[in-house]
Amino acid sequence: MMDGASQSLAIQPISGALGAEVSGIDLARMDEAAFAAIHQAFLDHQLLVFRGQGLAPADYVALARRFGAPAEYPFAKGLEGFPEITMIAKEADQTSNFGGMWHSDTTYKPDPPKATMLKAVETPPAGGDTLFACQYRAYETLSDGMKAVLRGLKGVSSSAKNASALRTAHLATGSMSASEKAADVLTASHPAVRRHPETGRLALYVNRSHTVAFEGMTEAESAPLLDYLFEHQVQPEFTARVRWEPGTVVIWDNRCMQHCAVNDYDGHRREMWRITLEGQVPDGV
Ligand code: SIN
Repeated sequence: MMDGASQSLAIQPISGALGAEVSGIDLARMDEAAFAAIHQAFLDHQLLVFRGQGLAPADYVALARRFGAPAEYPFAKGLEGFPEITMIAKEADQTSNFGGMWHSDTTYKPDPPKATMLKAVETPPAGGDTLFACQYRAYETLSDGMKAVLRGLKGVSSSAKNASALRTAHLATGSMSASEKAADVLTASHPAVRRHPETGRLALYVNRSHTVAFEGMTEAESAPLLDYLFEHQVQPEFTARVRWEPGTVVIWDNRCMQHCAVNDYDGHRREMWRITLEGQVPDGV
């Protein structure tokens, strides 16, 4: 609980590993004290969920700017008049979805986004939830021997890996408008264990959608260890699940967690507005 204008702000964890639901706040009108509390909660819980936020596009962009600088998504155009907002939609007649495999956003960029915001605009009657997994816990629960091995490795990410095939198929259907860069293949290498620039904690930083190999090794050499890590890092004890309704707004920290959009709502439309916030080149240990 807070004083003054932030009196009714309440932060309730949603799982043992990560995430909190924040109530008693209008995101379009929050004062500096409330924002400071929410920013600290973002660092503490990695994922914040807000309900009933009727944010118009301009208010949504203004909110994003309080957390950081909106970044351009390299593979899709933004909303008309609001290039910072990418519409992510699955139409009722589509079967593939966007982001339907565990990942941290755009790790194939040299400076992947620090955070992502999603606002639910239209949701199916059931399904369409998003799963999140804490990568601090994924790292901290490894053996000392494995931690030492991983601290010396870099993971190579490619936008051409399998999630990108899903994305391309989805863009081709026209539910998202492809940018002129949609055909490009982007690659980047990052420490397999990254130090969070604000909390100082260590997080596992490879992901099934984008990481193709360890730097200096072949894909075949890398696969056994990567496959082990891809399973380890999303076990149920590290996760939280968000159920969406129109007006739900979420912000998550890409530097220490992964997410996966559950594709279980064929026959119904789902529309989200996404803003990513610029990040920095990840530090190793
Ligand atoms: C994404 O991967 O950014 C999309 C998540 C979602 O639609 O739930």
